[in-house]
Amino acid sequence: MPRTVLVTSTTPACRHVVSKLLSSPDCPAIRVITRSAVGIQETFPPQLRSEPHSIILVEDFRGPVFAAAFRGVSVVFHNGPVLLPSEETMAIATIDEARIARVEHFVFCSVLQPIRVKLTTHKVKLRLEEYLIESRLNYTILQPPHYMQNVSIRHSLVTGKIPLGYSPNTSHGFIDLVDLATVVRNIVMDPVQHRFARYEIVGQNISYNDIASAISRISRRNVRCDVMTSQEFVEKMRTSEEVRNEYAEDSLMRLLVYYDRWGLTGNTNVLRWLLGREPGTWEGYVRRELS
Ligand SMILES: NC(=O)c1ccc[n+]([C@@H]2O[C@H](COP(=O)([O-])OP(=O)(O)OC[C@H]3O[C@@H](n4cnc5c(N)ncnc54)[C@H](OP(=O)(O)O)[C@@H]3O)[C@@H](O)[C@H]2O)c1
Repeated sequence: MPRTVLVTSTTPACRHVVSKLLSSPDCPAIRVITRSAVGIQETFPPQLRSEPHSIILVEDFRGPVFAAAFRGVSVVFHNGPVLLPSEETMAIATIDEARIARVEHFVFCSVLQPIRVKLTTHKVKLRLEEYLIESRLNYTILQPPHYMQNVSIRHSLVTGKIPLGYSPNTSHGFIDLVDLATVVRNIVMDPVQHRFARYEIVGQNISYNDIASAISRISRRNVRCDVMTSQEFVEKMRTSEEVRNEYAEDSLMRLLVYYDRWGLTGNTNVLRWLLGREPGTWEGYVRRELS
């Protein structure tokens, strides 16, 4: 069992992994890296704020506090924020520090089919996968599709809409973040079994129109896709924290155009095998959120 697991950011996947590890009977010590913000400590589960767990505030991933966070760590879980010009340098710094600290295993949460290099968001991941594979660290690479949790069921019920910047008829792969966290927990607890693996982890392929129908049927409320042009969608996102520069805007625009034409589907066999059960579905996600 690993002594200390380092979770390198506070993305939704990282937060699900932390919760899953905390709820495991054989929970290792968890160390989470976060940027400092008012009240940030309170956004973590209370158990994480006391020994043996810790929350490390890091302002600069090139600084000594960042490097020190890797000391004594057995397993790193890295899932960096997307649409950041610094995504690649942050991830490379993370891999380098893991190597210096002689970390035993590095779990990188990438993206489904990074070979789709027309997408900037995927092209970055392909380079990072190569960098990790050539780092001589023991690694596992996870390649998830869209997270079901990108759609807030409660918000869709309040507004009656799922906002979308591409076709609602195109199929996409999805994974329930609970399943992703379960897979990470299993790897963290037994990393040797998953050494040098790259796993495509898809739970279900489905279109957003069919998702809206499922939410409507289960909730008995009317929810539909609110389809905008890619320009309208980017304009809407411009006011958010995620789209603050030309890099983010350009990456997002490419993603919308690509998803409209191709979608992003994959196969569910690997996730079923990793979980030892059927992967979570939209039906299950919606019912859980409404219960
Ligand atoms: N979303 C998906 O469907 C999906 C699917 C497959 C793969 N991925 C991959 O998963 C990763 C995360 O994407 P995401 O969409 O889940 O999350 P995200 O929107 O990229 O990340 C959200 C969180 O990251 C933290 N963050 C943002 N900017 C930061 C910065 N400059 N420094 C440190 N932390 C920062 C913030 O947490 P705080 O507010 O707590 O600071 C923010 O809430 C990406 O690499 C993406 O490619 C995502």
